[in-house]
Amino acid sequence: MALPSLLLLVAALAGGVRPPGARNLTLAVVLPEHNLSYAWAWPRVGPAVALAVEALGRALPVDLRFVSSELEGACSEYLAPLSAVDLKLYHDPDLLLGPGCVYPAASVARFASHWRLPLLTAGAVASGFSAKNDHYRTLVRTGPSAPKLDCIGDHVPRTPKS
Ligand SMILES: *[C@@H]1O[C@H](CO)[C@@H](O)[C@H](O)[C@H]1NC(C)=O
Ligand SMILES: *[C@@H]1O[C@H](CO)[C@@H](O)[C@H](O)[C@H]1NC(C)=O
Repeated sequence: MALPSLLLLVAALAGGVRPPGARNLTLAVVLPEHNLSYAWAWPRVGPAVALAVEALGRALPVDLRFVSSELEGACSEYLAPLSAVDLKLYHDPDLLLGPGCVYPAASVARFASHWRLPLLTAGAVASGFSAKNDHYRTLVRTGPSAPKLDCIGDHVPRTPKS
C-alpha cells in the first residue's frame, strides 16, 4: 500500500477513538532531516507526508510535528528516542511516523507500544520486529522486512515447489 493511503488509514483509526471536532490530529515525524544516504530521509518522504496531510486536512485539522533523528549527519540511536519522548510530552501525538533507521526504530517502537501509539515506519527491517509481542504491538511496517526478504535468521531455505 502506498504511504499516503496507509497514513490515511492509520490516522483514521487513531483519530477514530476521539469524538469528531474535539481537537486536531497530531502527526509526529521522527526522521533523518538532511542526509539523503538514508532511504527514508525527510526530503524523500516529506512530499508523500504532505500529500497525506493535505488529504487528511479535508476531514480534520492536522498538526504536523517534525523532529530530526539525525545527529551530525548520521541516524542517531540516542537522539531518536529522546525526540520521541519530547514529542509525546509536549505534543501528545495521535500517530508517529519514523524513525527511518533500524536501531532508532527499535527503541522508539518500544515507547510507542508502551504509549499505545500507532507507529508507522519503513525502517524496521530486522526480523526481531516481526514478533508482535509487548515490545512492538503498535508497529506498522511500510518497508521491507528481513523475513520477507529471506535474508536473516534461522529460516529453512526454500526448496522450489514442483
Ligand atoms: C489546529 O490546527 C490549526 C492549523 O492546522 C491551528 O490553527 C489550531 O490552532 C489548532 N488547534 C488546536 C486546538 O491545536
Ligand atoms: C550520511 O550518512 C552516511 C551513512 O551513515 C554517512 O556515511 C555520511 O557521512 C553522512 N553524510 C553526512 C553529510 O554526514
